[in-house]
Amino acid sequence: MSVLTDALTKVKSRIIGNTPKITDYNNLGIIVLAAGKGTRMKSALAKVLHQINGVPLLLKVLDTANSLTNCANDTDDLAKKPHTETVVVLKHEADEITSKLGTEFESRGVKTTIQSDIPGTGSGALAGLEKLSDDILTVLVLSGDVPLLSGETVRGLIKTHTNSENAITILTAKTPNPYGYGRIVRSSDNNSVVEAIVEEKDATDAQRRISEINSGTYCFKASVLRELLPKVDRDNAQGEMYLTDVISLAVAGGESVGAYITDDLAQIEGVNDRAQLATLARVENNAKLQELMQNGVTIIDPNSTWIENSVKIENDVIIEPNCYITGKTTIKSGAQILLGSRIIDATVGENAMVGPYAFLRPNANLHGNTKVGAFVEVKNSTLNMGAKVPHLSYVGDAEIGENTNVGAGSIFANYDGVNKHQTKIGANSKIGSKTVLVAPVEVGNNVYTGAASLIRHNVPDNALAFSKTEQVTWDNWVSEHR
Ligand code: UD1
Ligand code: MG
Repeated sequence: MSVLTDALTKVKSRIIGNTPKITDYNNLGIIVLAAGKGTRMKSALAKVLHQINGVPLLLKVLDTANSLTNCANDTDDLAKKPHTETVVVLKHEADEITSKLGTEFESRGVKTTIQSDIPGTGSGALAGLEKLSDDILTVLVLSGDVPLLSGETVRGLIKTHTNSENAITILTAKTPNPYGYGRIVRSSDNNSVVEAIVEEKDATDAQRRISEINSGTYCFKASVLRELLPKVDRDNAQGEMYLTDVISLAVAGGESVGAYITDDLAQIEGVNDRAQLATLARVENNAKLQELMQNGVTIIDPNSTWIENSVKIENDVIIEPNCYITGKTTIKSGAQILLGSRIIDATVGENAMVGPYAFLRPNANLHGNTKVGAFVEVKNSTLNMGAKVPHLSYVGDAEIGENTNVGAGSIFANYDGVNKHQTKIGANSKIGSKTVLVAPVEVGNNVYTGAASLIRHNVPDNALAFSKTEQVTWDNWVSEHR
């Protein structure tokens, strides 16, 4: 590197300030603790498999970890690519977690390990540490049950850790309600040096009044963790091996311990019960709705609207109250989603109208200017430009041609009890009210079907098809039988 580029790099790094350097991630090991029992969830499902807006808690944490390692690997220069490793520590319901998330672990290059029978976060961290390579220099510990922690906050923690050359840096926050969290005990002189973390159950009354709490996210010098973790005992109220005890051991050994304080409490909140699960889901939902509104989407009632992060919505879409939109859904400009509609993994084209009370299921593909009206369910079907299914219908495994109208109460009978079959309707056709189309069946272009028809056979272009159910009228029947 020339003297000039060297100098420029130095200036740049000063300007960038808090942006971590590649070297911050050199030989970084990430341990994600997910071995806890999750007792307070009162669930047959492992805690970290519970979802926030469609994503299991553990995957949210792994996405945060991934954002760091991606950022660390954000160079084409192989010589500069730092070495990072991520290990998830499991125990309770480990098989269930691995069977549900195994492919996700693989695709993210994440290793797993099983904690010993010794309970506690210290025991979990030890299991993770043993799985990391010897050349790991810095260890970041994340909790599998803290789903909203952002990559940006963790980058700030790592940056502070490397800049200060601390042995340990703890992500902390000040909260008016510290109940349940470990408290950060600082030295009484200038109140700046972190001396210990004391758990709620082990704290004195005075310590319980401390408002600065441990988020459960830390950076350690790997050598310090390797030396001190095996020395942690279980002499505490819960009989557990506390990872937090490493702090007082480090201080006693003359190591420097610091804190990186965040003011975003939601980011560090752990999910221990269903109430916290709901609270954090709402925080995340609100952020998504804000982002959409900033991008030109009208959301009439943000309090009753749920939209998952994975959903893409273009500008000038209007969303009425009580809609729940999830998965890989895309909604294009000018579409209207009316009251009480549920949309999963569907595409809604430009200026399409959905609802009120519509149900779009996976692979419902609505092209522009289509309409899916009240009490209509659509699954794995394409409505071409201008096609309409305005009322009370079920459309499954079908293709409906341009400008075709499907009358009220029509049913696409797609299932024979074993297999699903396709229905195809051409363009400009009028399917009479209460038509039942028994798949597999094809109806041509410009076709009419009579009301209450049962369509079992293909219908050619331009035909009228109806099934005869003759009307019978008995004069005076009512007056004679009353
Ligand atoms: C922990 C911290 C506490 C902090 C709080 C933040 C300790 C001793 N306490 O308490 O200071 O304020 O997090 O949320 O660390 N886990 C394991 N193995 C175990 C036990 C737990 O891997 O044996 C995992 C859990 O799955 C969870 C995380 O560690 O992901 C935290 O465990 P949890 O039991 O929720 O700890 P807290 O009591 O919340
Ligand atoms: Mg917890």
